[in-house]
Order: sequence, then C-alpha cells, then structure tokens
Amino acid sequence: MIPLRITELNVDGFRNLRGVKLAPSPGGNVLLGDNGHGKTSVLEAIDYAASLRSFRGATRTQLIGHEAKAAEILMRVAGPVPAREYRLRLARTSREITLDGKRPEHALEYFSGAACVVFHPGDLDLVRGPPELRRRLLDRILVRAVDGYGEALKSYGKALRARNALLRERQPNAKAIQAFDFPLARYGSALVRARTVLAHDLVPAARRALDEVALSPDAIELKYQPRAAGDQVAFTAALAENLPRDLARRLTSLGPHGDDLAITWSGLPARVVASQGQTRALALALRLAELHVLEARTRSVPILLLDDVSSELDRERTARLFKLVGALGAQVFVTTTDPAIAALLPGAKRFTVADGAVTADGG
Ligand SMILES: Nc1ncnc2c1ncn2[C@@H]1O[C@H](COP(=O)(O)OP(=O)(O)OP(=O)(O)O)[C@@H](O)[C@H]1O
Ligand SMILES: [Mg+2]
Repeated sequence: MIPLRITELNVDGFRNLRGVKLAPSPGGNVLLGDNGHGKTSVLEAIDYAASLRSFRGATRTQLIGHEAKAAEILMRVAGPVPAREYRLRLARTSREITLDGKRPEHALEYFSGAACVVFHPGDLDLVRGPPELRRRLLDRILVRAVDGYGEALKSYGKALRARNALLRERQPNAKAIQAFDFPLARYGSALVRARTVLAHDLVPAARRALDEVALSPDAIELKYQPRAAGDQVAFTAALAENLPRDLARRLTSLGPHGDDLAITWSGLPARVVASQGQTRALALALRLAELHVLEARTRSVPILLLDDVSSELDRERTARLFKLVGALGAQVFVTTTDPAIAALLPGAKRFTVADGAVTADGG
C-alpha cells in the first residue's frame, strides 16, 4: 500500500501563520512550540486544503489572518497517483481552489487525492457530543471513498435548504414544498445507504483499532440510525406522511441531516458508560478506524495529523500510537509543547513554531 505524502507546504495569511514554507519528511514530522504560536493552525491548513473545512469548525473569515487580505495555501501531495498540486486562496468574500491549475470538477478526485485523518482534542465530542460530529466523520470518509457521494451530499443540502426556506414562508405552499421531495428522496436515500454500509464496515476497523490502543475490542458496536429509509420509494412516502408535521415545525424533520451513528460500549451508549480515559481511547480508535477504512477503500495510506496527542493520551498510549503509525508507513504530523514527545518518534523531522513562523531544526 502506497502512503500519501505531502512533499511541499506553503501557508501564508492563514490564522497567525506568515510565510510558512515546509519540506516535510515522508515519515514523521514534529511541530514543537509554546502555546498559541500556530502549531494547530499548520495542521488545520493541511486539513483545510484536503477537506475544504476546518476541523475546529471555523468559518472562512475566522481562518483568514486578522491583518491579511487573504489566506493562501499551496500543498503538493505525492502518492500512488502522479504528484498533485492543491492551491487555495481564501478571501473574505470569495474562495478560489485549484487542483493542478484547474478548478476541481469531481469531489472524489479532489478528496481522495489528499486523504488525511486528524485526531485532535475536540474529538472527545465524537463520543459525547452531538450527532453532527459523527455524521461529519462518516461524510469525511465517504467523500473520499465513494464515487458520487460528495455530489449527492451537495445536492441533498441544496434541496433541503430550499425546502426549509419554503416551509418558513408566511403562507407555505404545500405543492411547492413537495416539489423538493424528489431530489430529497433520491439523494437522501443514497446518503443513508452509503452511511449504513460504512457504519457496518467501521466495526471491524474500530475493533482492530481498539486492540491497537489496548482497549477491549469486543465491547464496541456501531450502528447507523436513519430516520428515513435508504430506499427511495419509502423515503418519499415518509416525506409525504410527515408534511403536516414539517409545516407545523417549519422544518424538514426526516432525513440524513438529522441522523446519528450510535456508539455502544459494553451494551450501553458509550457517552454514558465510558470513563474519561476510555472516551479518549474510543475517540482515537474511531479515527484509526477512519484510517483503516480509507486505506482499504482508496488503496493508499492517508496522511495522519495528530494535534496535541500527549495532552489526550498517556505516555504509553502515545508511544503505542507512534509505533503503529510507523508500521503503517503513514506520513504523520504531530504537534506538541513537550520536547520529550519528539523523542518517541525516532527519525522524525523537527520544526519549531514561533509567532506564526515555522523553521526546520538544524537547517
Ligand atoms: N484569524 C486569525 N488571525 C490571526 N491570528 C489568529 C487567527 N485565529 C487565531 N489566531 C491566533 O493564532 C495563534 C495560533 O493558534 P494555534 O491554535 O495554532 O496555536 P497552538 O500553537 O496550537 O497553541 P496550543 O499549544 O495552545 O494548542 C493563537 O494565538 C490565536 O489566537
Ligand atoms: Mg494547538
């Protein structure tokens, strides 16, 4: 399996980063620096170029440097396919993206070519937080692994927004609203089907990952819980049946935009039974499961971004994780304030992050 790797990364005007030019190692990379100097922002820039969204949930405007006109990212990625060049320019009123100099046309081509997996402190909410974060996990994988998924997700969102806007009108017109039932059912049922299959495939991957992070693998169960069926005809019928309720609530109530991925731990909802430490390990296992599934489905090893792992995991789990990453052959970027963490990744290239600038140690 051929790992994806970033060979060049330039970032300017993204958060506090200015004039960053990195030539990362194909293996381990450690970004060391004090609090608030820009370490997470480097990972966020990489993941933004790869996913077109911020893993910290920031809006485009929040990502642009306070004193910058625009945020610019250039990222070259090599791997199983010929090297690709991602270029992004985020301004306050516009966003320009090119892949190899052209506007990207296919979501799968864009997202699979720079597949990366992030593990960051906010991931505790994967287990304990709202369903939206778990849906986002599924969607992250599916846009990279299933042809047409990114397009279906976009079309579904567009139809949903249009239908909801009609539902909020002062005198809603049922006929106009129902005109959106066809695209909603078509794309919505496709999203439900893909997510259901993925949830099923994530179970063995999560068990393997739990074993890797030294938790009991059999305790976990994952199940996608759709509120409308993955069958287009049944989906359409459910929309029609729910119209009176939708009119009363002024919202489309059924569909994959509100679904959840249930995480069960020893037979009970993980959010209520898992201890703090188990929750951390579970969140990490879900991210490693994301990596394993992407590896199997895209036939390449994703890039791994580990934000502040040492604050999330104890030393032994951190060492275990680094060993595992080494065995997978993945390119990895680790941020930390603790120089001792760098020692756990032998052979890694070290960078110092200070006041929005990044310099390679010893060079
Ligand atoms: N749009 C922006 N423009 C300029 N600076 C910003 C912007 N958004 C955030 N910052 C600042 O950028 C700095 C770097 O933040 P970042 O989260 O990357 O730090 P960090 O090195 O990961 O810190 P920690 O070790 O505490 O996690 C912070 O001081 C933050 O306040
Ligand atoms: Mg940080």
